Amino acid sequence: MNATPRLAILISGTGSNMEAIARACRDGSLDAKTAVVISDNPNAEGLRRARRMGIDTAVCRYRRGVPREENEAPIVEEIRSRGVDWIVLAGFMKVLTPSFVREFPGRVINIHPSILPAFPGAHAIRDALAAGADFTGVTVHIVDELVDHGPIIAQEEASILPGDTEETLAARIHAIEHRLYPRTLRQIIHEDI
Ligand code: GAR
Repeated sequence: MNATPRLAILISGTGSNMEAIARACRDGSLDAKTAVVISDNPNAEGLRRARRMGIDTAVCRYRRGVPREENEAPIVEEIRSRGVDWIVLAGFMKVLTPSFVREFPGRVINIHPSILPAFPGAHAIRDALAAGADFTGVTVHIVDELVDHGPIIAQEEASILPGDTEETLAARIHAIEHRLYPRTLRQIIHEDI
């Protein structure tokens, strides 16, 4: 482990959680460095946000019809060559293979917009609304070899209000995420839980 732990943040989209974490690193509230932001999507808004902050970025596109391990190889290479200690998934919408997770045991962290094990998958906010749930929330967990699964480190509930749409609920969930993710990373990285 580096004296200042080095993070690779993996994204596919907007990158608002990536930005919250990178800002926490920058203002010292999280004693870590964002070594690289990696996206499978070359058009991700999060790549522009990272570049604006002066953070190195890498695009690792997935090719159709290619085994997932092969698609992940450039990501593993970025992580290894940059001496990364922790892999932080922040809206990375590809499922990582068991072999990727075994390369970095206990070192891959994910945030998911529900109280897992409720509403796993790519549409957790929409699914919670469609189910008529009273509340949903946010989970931060260590990634194991199953999807949206692994030791839960932090959860925080968000109520679902009458008249909520996917947009209003997502905004409430994002506000929780931006606070909870940097704080929980600090706990995981520095309190050795
Ligand atoms: C976040 O809400 C995150 O919890 C979710 O994607 C969003 C990314 O937003 N992740 C998943 O659904 C993973 N299954 P962002 O790009 O603005 O950080």
